[in-house]
Amino acid sequence: MNSTSRASAAPWTPDAIADQQGRTALITGGNSGIGLETARVLARHGARLILAGRSQNKLDEAAAGLRGEQPDAKITTAVIDLGDLASLQQASKRLAETETIDLLFNNAGVMNIPERRTTSDGFELTFGTNHLGHFALTAGLMPALLRSPAARIVTVSAIAATWRMGRLEDLMSDRRYGAMSAYAKSKRANVVFTQELARRLTGTSIEALVVHPGSAMTNLQRHSQGPLSQLIVALTSRTVMGSAEGAAWPSLYAATSLDAHSGQFIAPAGRDQTAGSPKPVPLPRGADDPAEGAFLWTESERLTGIHFLSDPTALR
Ligand SMILES: NC(=O)c1ccc[n+]([C@@H]2O[C@H](COP(=O)([O-])OP(=O)(O)OC[C@H]3O[C@@H](n4cnc5c(N)ncnc54)[C@H](OP(=O)(O)O)[C@@H]3O)[C@@H](O)[C@H]2O)c1
Repeated sequence: MNSTSRASAAPWTPDAIADQQGRTALITGGNSGIGLETARVLARHGARLILAGRSQNKLDEAAAGLRGEQPDAKITTAVIDLGDLASLQQASKRLAETETIDLLFNNAGVMNIPERRTTSDGFELTFGTNHLGHFALTAGLMPALLRSPAARIVTVSAIAATWRMGRLEDLMSDRRYGAMSAYAKSKRANVVFTQELARRLTGTSIEALVVHPGSAMTNLQRHSQGPLSQLIVALTSRTVMGSAEGAAWPSLYAATSLDAHSGQFIAPAGRDQTAGSPKPVPLPRGADDPAEGAFLWTESERLTGIHFLSDPTALR
């Protein structure tokens, strides 16, 4: 299998990534931060990229930057707003009809939105973008993923998935809104979604993995505007926060390593899981409970009105 790296005892770095010529990767949030770094490394290894984001201008700028570094990079763009189901479904339908997608990175996200806001469809913005948007996109792209002989879906969660405030209840934060609890819920949902997806994809050619990138100074922190939030960002950016480059390693490892497997939670192996070479880490407590997976799945289908294939093997 030439699409993945060989097992090795040495700490993993992106140098271990095998040639990705002939493979296509779609990256949400591909114009910024960790998504852009993921794209950069995959382009270097020959993958064809579909950069997805909500702004054509930002996507064009990111694509031009990558082509400047790598003139032979194969890049197309797709405007996909995870906070707008109608436009998302339109875009994913077009891609599903024409593309073979080998790697799907459910990477885009928002964090720390100071006041409760909603997506175009009325979902709480953080949960709606980070989980429901990716739930809908993954469902829509399933035909394109099933065309690949060996596809991987990599969903980018966060250490916040392990926080108690991330319990999957009051998903729309109707009863009580907290910026970081909405984020923690969305990030736990990324993990629980992946566990349920991995179970449902058993017997197909698609694997589903979830990662957390450690921490890196990116545009994600732009809503951290209160004095306390700003102080925390200022302090941590100088101490524990790494680069977007290193924060992309767990995604890259999950997508390309032969040692990585469906259902795994991949994170930096360094101290406090903030940085370092990626490795599988224990799941947040209870995140592989099929009852929680079934609850999230049912709620996600009810809220979005989008249903996954009941039998993905039927399309093969
Ligand atoms: N940085 C960290 O320390 C850290 C830690 C843990 C987890 N993560 C996770 O890593 C992922 C990437 O974050 P990042 O740090 O790279 O942040 P970032 O630089 O802000 O990138 C986030 C990306 O998501 C896109 N996005 C936001 N809302 C969207 C929507 N409605 N539709 C489509 N795209 C949308 C953004 O687009 P625009 O450019 O248009 O805003 C941007 O491209 C997120 O899932 C985040 O939760 C990051």
